[in-house]
Amino acid sequence: MIHRNLREQNRRSWNAVVGAHDSHRGDLATFLREGGITLFPEERALLGKLEGKTLAHLQCNSGGDSLSLARLGAAVTGVDISDKAIAAAGELSARTSIPALFERADIYDWLKEAARGGRRFDVVFSSYGVICWLPDLEAWAEGIAAVLKPGGRFVLVDFHPVAEMFDGHWNHARAYPSGGESLLLDEGVGDYVAESEGGLTPAGFAGGVRGFENPEPCHLFRWGLGEVVTALGGGGLRILAVKEYPYSNGERHFADLRELPGRRMIPPKGVPAVPLMYGICATRTGRR
Ligand SMILES: C[S@@+](CC[C@H](N)C(=O)[O-])C[C@H]1O[C@@H](n2cnc3c(N)ncnc32)[C@H](O)[C@@H]1O
Repeated sequence: MIHRNLREQNRRSWNAVVGAHDSHRGDLATFLREGGITLFPEERALLGKLEGKTLAHLQCNSGGDSLSLARLGAAVTGVDISDKAIAAAGELSARTSIPALFERADIYDWLKEAARGGRRFDVVFSSYGVICWLPDLEAWAEGIAAVLKPGGRFVLVDFHPVAEMFDGHWNHARAYPSGGESLLLDEGVGDYVAESEGGLTPAGFAGGVRGFENPEPCHLFRWGLGEVVTALGGGGLRILAVKEYPYSNGERHFADLRELPGRRMIPPKGVPAVPLMYGICATRTGRR
C-alpha cells in the first residue's frame, strides 16, 4: 500500500495534537446534548435529509461532527487513524448519550475491510482538511464507491487547493497542487484550533493548551481539484455537484480574514475573491 510509513507518521503527529485541539473546544458535550450542531450549512445542504440513513464519516477526528450527524438522524460510523481522536470521540458519545460507532483505522484499510465484510452505507461523508492526508486518490474513490449502496451519496467539503498557492499574507507563493506531491512538515500538525480563535469551536473557545509544539512531523499530499473529481468519476461515482466557495468556514488560514456571521471567513478588503473551499456531491450508480 502506497506510503504506509508516511501515514503511520501522520498518525503519530495527529495523536500528539488532538489533546491540544480538544482543550479549546469548550463544553462541546453540553452543546451537543442540548441539540447544538457543529456542521456548517454547506455540508448540510449537500448531505440533504439524514433521518434513518446509515452514514460512514471518514477522517472523523474527535467526533463532534459525527455526533451532529447522528443528532440529525443518521446511524453513524466514524473512522479515523488517530487513536487519541477515536478515544475522544467515544468519550464524547458517552458524555452526550448520542450513540455512534467509532473505529480506529487507516481509511485505506477500513474501506477495504468494510467492502470485504459486505458493509454498505447510504451516505459517506468527509470534510475540512481531509484530501491533503491521502496519497492515493484512486484507491480512496474506489473504496468509497465499494461501501456505498447503489444510489448512495458521497459528500466532501474541503479547503480549496487554490488556497494552497498563497502564504499566510496572500502572496502567491506556491504552484497549484498536483499529482499528490508529498510535502514534509517538520513542525507537524499545528494547533490550528487555537489559531482560529473560536472559528472552530461552536461551543465557545477555551484557552486550554498554550504554545503547543508538535514533536512529530507529518506528510501532506498536494492534489488539485480536477484530480479529486476525476478520481471519484473513475471510481464509479457520478458527480452531481461541484461547488466552489469564495470563503472558508471556521479556520483562519490567512492574515486579516474578515469574519461574517456563521464563522465564515472572507479575505480582507483589497484581496480579490478566490475559491477557499469546495464541496462535491456524488452518487454511486447501480452499474458496479
Ligand atoms: C483536519 S482533520 C478532519 C476534521 C474533521 N472533519 C472534524 O470533524 O474535525 C483530519 C483527520 O484525518 C485523519 N487522518 C489522516 N490520515 C488518515 C488516514 N490515512 N486514515 C484515517 N484518518 C486519517 C486525522 O487523524 C485527522 O483526524
